[in-house]
This record gives sequence, C-alpha cells and structure tokens, in this order.
Amino acid sequence: MDKPSDKKKFYLTTPIYYANSRPHVGSAYTTIVCDVIARYKRMCGYDVAFVTGTDEHGVNIEAAAEKLGVSPSELVDRNQKIFRDLWELLGIHFPPQHFIRTTELRHVRAVQTLVRRTLERDRGREPSKRAIYKARYEGRYCIYDNAYVSDTPEPADCPTCGRPAELVSEENYFFRLSAYQNQLLDHYKKVLDFVYPDFRFNEVKSFVEAGLRDISISRKSIKWGIPWPDDPEHVFYVWYDALTSYMTAIGFGEGHEGDLNPEFKRFWPADIHAMGKEIIRFHAVYWPAFLMAAGLLLPKQIVAHGWLLFEQEKMSKSKGNVAYAEPIVKVLGNDALRYYLLREVVFGQDGNFSRDALITRYNADLANGLGNLASRVLTMVNQYFDGTMPRPLPEDDRHALEQNAMHLAGAANRHYNDFRFFDGLQEIWNLVSLADFMLVAEQPWKRIADPANIPAVGSVLYKASESIRLASILAYPVIPDATQKIWELLGQTGKLADVRIDQVKWGDLKPGTRIGKPEAVFPRVDKEEASERIAKMEDEIRNPGSTQPAAATPSAGATGAGGAAAAAAPAPGAKIGIEDFAKVEMRVGIVKSAEKIAGADKLLKVMVDIGDEVRQVLAGIAQFYTPEELVGRKVVVVANLAPRKMRGLESNGMIVAASVGPEGRPVLATFTEDVPAGAKLK
Ligand code: MSP
Repeated sequence: MDKPSDKKKFYLTTPIYYANSRPHVGSAYTTIVCDVIARYKRMCGYDVAFVTGTDEHGVNIEAAAEKLGVSPSELVDRNQKIFRDLWELLGIHFPPQHFIRTTELRHVRAVQTLVRRTLERDRGREPSKRAIYKARYEGRYCIYDNAYVSDTPEPADCPTCGRPAELVSEENYFFRLSAYQNQLLDHYKKVLDFVYPDFRFNEVKSFVEAGLRDISISRKSIKWGIPWPDDPEHVFYVWYDALTSYMTAIGFGEGHEGDLNPEFKRFWPADIHAMGKEIIRFHAVYWPAFLMAAGLLLPKQIVAHGWLLFEQEKMSKSKGNVAYAEPIVKVLGNDALRYYLLREVVFGQDGNFSRDALITRYNADLANGLGNLASRVLTMVNQYFDGTMPRPLPEDDRHALEQNAMHLAGAANRHYNDFRFFDGLQEIWNLVSLADFMLVAEQPWKRIADPANIPAVGSVLYKASESIRLASILAYPVIPDATQKIWELLGQTGKLADVRIDQVKWGDLKPGTRIGKPEAVFPRVDKEEASERIAKMEDEIRNPGSTQPAAATPSAGATGAGGAAAAAAPAPGAKIGIEDFAKVEMRVGIVKSAEKIAGADKLLKVMVDIGDEVRQVLAGIAQFYTPEELVGRKVVVVANLAPRKMRGLESNGMIVAASVGPEGRPVLATFTEDVPAGAKLK
C-alpha cells in the first residue's frame, strides 16, 4: 500500500456547527454527505483530510447560555460533546485534531495570524486601499439568526424568524469587500466549477456583479469572541472567526516556521468546502476575499446542498420542527439513515424528510433488496456447496450480468465524482435487481434437485455472489457497516475501505473461498412499531424527563435556573398533552429575602417560601428588580426542576416570568388575589 505521503491529497470540510444547541437530522445531513465523499475519495487512493467542528463564539451562543443560566463555555462544552457523540454514532471518524472548536487556543492563534498577515500586507497599501480599516457601524442585527437584518439604524424585523432586530452602533474593524469585486469575478471566470451546483454559482456571480459592500469583521459589544490582536476591546465577528477554522484544523498559525506548517502546506487549499445553500455567500464571496487579502490560496470548490425540509418547512432549531438522528440510528441502524438521505434527496436540491418514507425505503431497498439477496445467495452456497464458493462455468465468462455490472460500476463512479449520489445508488441497486432477475430466471433452488445441474447452479450462485461483492464495494461509502459485514460473509478479508472502488473488476471473487454463516444484515421492521419507537425517543430528546428539564424558549421565556442546554423547545404552536403539562410542578411562592450575588450582575439569590419549605432559587432578574422590591412578593415557582449550580450556589427551582420586548425584559408572574404559599398551579 502507498504511504500517505505518496498519495494525492484531498482536503474536505463540513461547516462548523453552531454549538448553541444539539444537532438534528439537517445538520447530520451535511456531515454524512461529507463522510460519503471522504470515504469515496479514500477508496480512490487519496490521502484524505476531513475536518468538522463547532462554531462556539458569538451573540447567539451568549444569548443561549444566558437563557439557560450557564456560562457560554459551559454551554459549548456540553453541546460540542453531543456533536462528537453523534458523529461517533454515525460511524464518522477523524483524528482528534480534525475536529475544530473555535474556542481552542490554536484557533485563536490562527485567526490572529490571518488578520496580522493581512494588516502586514496593508502596510504597503495606500490607506484608501487597505483591506482592513476602522469605521462606525450602525445597523440592525438578529441575534437569533446571527445575521444583519439591515445596515441602517431604523427598526426592522428579521426576515427569517420575524423577531425585532437589535440596534448595533459602534466602531468596528471593516473588511473592504467592495475592493475585491473584480478579482472575485475574474476568479469565477477562470475556475468554472468554483461553486457547485451551477445554478447556485450563477446566484453568486449575480450577487457580486451587483456590487459589494464592505463588511464589519469585529464587535465591541460582544465579549464572547477572539480578541483583535493589539486591540482587545474588539472581538472578531463570527464569520471571519468561523471560516478561518478550515485552516486552523490543518495547522495554520502553528509551529516555529512562520504560519505555514507542513500539514497546512500539504493540505491547503481545501479541495471542497461543503455546506447548506444558505451559507454559500460567506464561502464563495467573503472567504475568497479574506484569503486574497492575506495572500493565501483559495479553496478549489464550494459545494452546496439544499435543505432538508420537515413537512415542507426548513428544519430549524428556532422553529423547533426538527427530527433527530439518534433515534433513527438506534431503531434502524446507521446505514438506514445514510442510505435514505443520499437516496431520497437529490443532492443540491431541497428534499423532504419523512419518517414514513425512511422506513419504507429501509424495508424495500435494504431489507428486501440488498439484504435479502445476500442472505438468499449465501444460504444456498452454504446448503448446496457446503459453504465453499462454487466456480462459474467457462461459457458463462462473458455473461450479460458481468457486462452490465462493469458498466454500472463505471457509471456509479462517475456519479460519485459528480455528487450525483442519488443516481449512483440507483445504478448499484440496478445491479442488485439484475442479480435478483437472474435468480428468478434460473431458479437454482429447483434445479439443484437434479445432480446434473450442480455445475450450472454453482455458476449462477457465483455470478450472484460476485454481483453482491461488487455492489458492496460500490455502496460502501454510503452504507459502510452492512457492506463490511457482507464483505466478511463472502469470505473476503481486510477492510472494504481499503479496496479501490475505481478499479473494481468482475471475477476477483475466488472460487473455493469459504463463506460465513448467513445472517440478516438488514432485519425487516414493522413500520408502525419502528415509527412509534422513533417518535418516542424523539419526544424524549425534545422533552427530557424530570432529570433534564426543557429549556425555556426565547419567546416564552421564564427567568431563573434549570434547563438542559441541548433540549429543543417544541415548535411554536405545537400542542402538548396534559400529561406533559402535569410534569411541571408549579407552586405559589412568597419571597422571604433576596440579595445580589458578588460577581454576577444578572443574578439574584432569592429565598422563597413554597408552603412546606423555603427554597433557594437563583433568578436572572437583577437588572430589572431590586432585592427590596421582591421581599413579600408572590411569585410562581417551578418546584420540581433538578437542582443546578451557578457561581458555586445551588438553585432549586425557577421563578416564572414573562419575557418582554427584544431584550427579553423579565416581568414576574404574580397574583392579585390572596393565595397561600405552596398552592399548586394546574
Ligand atoms: N456556524 C455556521 C457555519 C460556519 S462555517 C465556517 C452555521 N452553522 S449551522 O449549525 O447553522 O449550520 C451548519 C450546517 O448545517 C449548514 O451547512 C446548514 O446548511 C446545515 N443545516 C442546518 N439545518 C439544515 C437542514 N434543515 N437541512 C440541511 N442542512 C441543514 O451555519
């Protein structure tokens, strides 16, 4: 085998995921697609670097952490682990350094190195031509979608979530994007496949042709970010920070020989940055301009997929209409989800996610298709040939199946290379169908009754087995677990991952090979039962039991402690059953005392009488209520929240408040009539 350094390199990235909540099937889709590409490229002989990670800075992280009463670093620590665990569950492996967190020191160094490089080059430029300059920014910004809504100070609502956007007015560092219009357009003319698919490339070109505005790349109002070198009042604005992670992960900004370490030199520029369609502009316009300004090579290709829709709407954490990957994997297995996503969604276009379609595909294509073919053929080889692979008859050498198989293998490879996974899988399953047809036509189970037919039956089973072997190699990038199993059942040694997919050859299955004992690689499932099990596990993720109370939603905020970082809120307007409501024990409380907590300007320590005991609750209301005005006040307390520690103090419950206005001002719920402490709300 070639040493990695003798091989051609291939560098592929997923976007880094916001660590403000847990991943859902939509986020898993991007990573699964990239893993398929990475596996395919490895099987073509490339030394592949595959990078993913979490985007951990910015206002949305700060805001999510505050809502949950935890620090931003606690929140991102927890959530990045959920991402890592999911990739592990999905069989997506990478060396530890290729999972990049933007809060890591190596990333701080890389971002600062990139900007220093740019500032250094700016020194040789006239001030009006410098890539980076300081100016006042005034605009409206949506903290939930982490996007500018308008570049004027007038009030505006976020077009994505509809919430009022916040006013931002401060001095920032700007990047002179407007100066890169021509260079970008030249690049697009030279590199004809810079953005995939074509129609998205056209959108990018039109956007750039219409003229570019300079963009702000730092913030003063945010604390949770990477400090600007020599001007630490500013932190980097998310996109400059996030995009640089693609270089950090392979060593940019590390080592003693300046900023170009050997791994970086080998792998940069990226061959593919893959992502969902909504973030193409940052990758195909901003990122190349940032790199041009720093004198670095540009990524070779930006590849965008569509959205995974849930009942025709984009799945989103803020809308709460999400499906999760973990329950699907636990009920149907890792391959089922991967196969479904690549087979059902035409890459590049939006696709609908449906649990029903997922299970139908699983049963039809995997259980009844490839799985059933493999187990029937292997059973017959075991029964009729004592588990030893028979040989094909010489006159069957150039059988139609062989010719078709080789043709389909070539087509599948071309489709993988062109990101047409849907078509590639169709070709592979055509091979499965052809082998099935041959069995139906030849009826080996009947013909075996006459001993004179043994050689012919052996030949049929050989050809069917060889088709299964080829299909397994070709399908491996998409369904790695089951194909490896089938590979071993066929008596093949080593890892399928090491087989050259672009050099498959009919006839490499050796007659005389001892095969394994057949077992179902894809057991059939009962649709209703599987669907119910998945639904139940999803509910548990959305509304974890009392050990993990659900987080307060941004719109129906409650103030205080408690809440699981990763818990998703139910969709706005979604109905819950009375049994869900009954899980929350709310009681009337009377505030006995309240005091500020040293070092925490938002928290108050409140002692509340809830009838049978006086509880200590930490509430994030210090900026809106004084301790004095709280004493004697009747409040509503969520009494059965799991205790949690903040600033070293324990909080045993939550005080309920409305969240008012864009800044989420808490207004405590209370009673105008006389009610005793401890009375239950129901
Ligand atoms: N943090 C930025 C990316 C920075 S890259 C330098 C970000 N994060 S994200 O978590 O919001 O999205 C990450 C990826 O998940 C994107 O590719 C996005 O398109 C993908 N998806 C999130 N929801 C999705 C669907 N419903 N369907 C398909 N992909 C989805 O953007």
